Amino acid sequence: MLYNKYVWLFFLGSTVYMLYYSDYYKTVEKYFVNQYDSIVTLIKVTSDQEIRTKTGEILFTQNALKKYTTLESGLYLSILGQVFDVSSGAKHYGPGETYHVFTGCDGSAAFITGDFTASGLTDDVSSLTNKQIQSLINWVEFYRKTYVYKGKLIGRYYNKDGSPTIERHKLEERIQIAMKRDSIEEERKTRFPPCNVEWDATSGTRVWCSKNSGGVTRNWIGVPRMLYDNPGLKNYRCACIRLESKEYKENLGMIRVYDGCDENSTICMIKSTAA
Ligand code: HEM
Repeated sequence: MLYNKYVWLFFLGSTVYMLYYSDYYKTVEKYFVNQYDSIVTLIKVTSDQEIRTKTGEILFTQNALKKYTTLESGLYLSILGQVFDVSSGAKHYGPGETYHVFTGCDGSAAFITGDFTASGLTDDVSSLTNKQIQSLINWVEFYRKTYVYKGKLIGRYYNKDGSPTIERHKLEERIQIAMKRDSIEEERKTRFPPCNVEWDATSGTRVWCSKNSGGVTRNWIGVPRMLYDNPGLKNYRCACIRLESKEYKENLGMIRVYDGCDENSTICMIKSTAA
């Protein structure tokens, strides 16, 4: 009878023992420690202080960043939520200098629009095209190479724990799209290199192909053709075409001979001014 009464205690003890030695408790412990860390971070961040994360990065609130606009405090700026110490560029960013407006805030859009007014200095880049966002990324790379990376600005692009926001993820997607389009254009340029173009008041426009026209160095010359960018045959550019190539045969519908130009000539005179 006594045995039956305490058998559950035996099973409970064995389960606890097994969990302890299977490291499960470590997972549980880690969970609670992480939760505690996040809460501590949150409390500190809302009190407008800078938080140094375990990786050495600093998380800035907007107010914390605002302090860095003088030579004494240091000159910091943020671009797409990434904060840089630009003190070594004081001749550009110091008080009274042309680009001082960028310090103490995130004025990402102004890097592209050139609008340095209060409303232009915004971190909202939703009105920029994908291509412009790509140019903005070049600025970020410039700052990474030239100045000291300090951390992240909490707000539009980074959460209070330093993780990327949904808006940041959307931005990444736009960058990817722009990069993909670039690589398609680059590939198209290599397959169909642009022609050399020259305009003269008396003779008009002359287009011609050479082994490095369009900046594409190759071992063939090709002949000038009108290459349309869509099947609607509206916009075109002059491309050097290798008549025996697979690319030419596969894109016959998009390629036209210039009016009055010999099919095999490497030079064409164009009647209209468009090339
Ligand atoms: C969208 C418009 C523009 C933006 C956002 C912009 C931004 C900047 C920034 C941030 C710097 C400092 C780079 C550094 O840290 O070394 C800079 C430098 C400079 N910018 Fe601009 N700029 C713009 C337009 C212009 C224009 C139109 C001119 C000329 C007429 C110009 C001339 C210069 C010069 C001469 C420097 C100094 C280069 C050096 O000393 O190394 N910028 N620009």
